[in-house]
Amino acid sequence: MKYRTIGTDPTTRREVSVLALGAMLFGSVTDEATSFALLDHYVEAGGNFIDTSDNYAFWADGGQGGQSEELLGRWRRSRGIGDEIVIATKLGARPLAPGTSYTDNPEGLSAKVIRESAERSRERLGLEKLDLLYAHIEDHTVPLQETVEAFAALAADGTVGLLGVSNHAVWRVERARALAAAAGLPGYEVLQYAHTHLRPRSDVPDALFPDGSLGHAGPDLLGYLRAEPGLTLVAYSPLLKGAYTRPERLPADFDHPGTPARLAVLRDVAREAGATVNQVVLAWQIGGELPVLPLAGVSSVAQLDENLAAVDLELSPEQRARLDAAH
Ligand SMILES: NC(=O)c1ccc[n+]([C@@H]2O[C@H](COP(=O)([O-])OP(=O)(O)OC[C@H]3O[C@@H](n4cnc5c(N)ncnc54)[C@H](OP(=O)(O)O)[C@@H]3O)[C@@H](O)[C@H]2O)c1
Repeated sequence: MKYRTIGTDPTTRREVSVLALGAMLFGSVTDEATSFALLDHYVEAGGNFIDTSDNYAFWADGGQGGQSEELLGRWRRSRGIGDEIVIATKLGARPLAPGTSYTDNPEGLSAKVIRESAERSRERLGLEKLDLLYAHIEDHTVPLQETVEAFAALAADGTVGLLGVSNHAVWRVERARALAAAAGLPGYEVLQYAHTHLRPRSDVPDALFPDGSLGHAGPDLLGYLRAEPGLTLVAYSPLLKGAYTRPERLPADFDHPGTPARLAVLRDVAREAGATVNQVVLAWQIGGELPVLPLAGVSSVAQLDENLAAVDLELSPEQRARLDAAH
């Protein structure tokens, strides 16, 4: 395994494995025994960066989510896991009532929600302190200042370490960080967005955010990361939910002439490297000039082993140049 530092403050920064494990479906779609086996296997391989959210996976049973955090809490207790494993969670996108969603009825990012939801996440996970807490989606009904101060209050009382943000317009991330900096408060340092080798069209609605919210890391976000070396991009859905091996899963916003061109280079490089296309995608993210940490979900140990092996796959500068240039 290889490791990378996330965060800049010596009191909150952490060393995490370069491949993060998504626990989104653990405890709902993925049963308990399989989930525990995947978590154990990941940790045995040196993995220590696990991702969940207070709303996972509300869509699996039409409830409000929480199964993933609860399963991780049971796994932590049964294995005697301490703070060597970094568990990141999120708030803001939990539906306020069963049968609703983050699109029509989200808990949002008010000071009250941030205080209370973080407390409930700590209870479900069995943690005194959340290592990394993200604002999951934007909330246009609450002033950014309120959200910034509420996250900082959790950091100040020691119940949260690092702060992160997901699926926000870049200008909102920058404004929130500027508000925090001006007030001498900690700001978002870990940015979680969808990112993979294939690029989405911007004129077709994102499957997760049909309202037009930003889900994918586009050129503006990547430019922001280049300008702010203290920030880290955590790339969700790096394997496009299995679409590299099952093309029928490719979302509509990837249906454009650039996709076959990029897939062709991925296949060429995979052949040359004796690797799979999934491994080339992950290695391309891990070893690139920007700090990108792929966050992949898995449903079997075989998938996890394939993804873990990508950590040791070194792409040559010439292969990287071809992968970057294809369009
Ligand atoms: N911030 C956000 O809004 C947000 C949104 C989505 C996800 N996330 C986070 O990101 C994590 C990963 O996202 P994701 O599950 O959407 O996308 P992903 O990691 O791209 O896809 C995971 C799925 O891809 C398939 N897969 C994984 N490895 C494979 C392999 N080696 N060979 C073939 N198929 C493979 C599996 O599908 P099958 O199980 O069907 O075989 C697996 O369930 C989640 O667990 C969650 O923590 C965050």
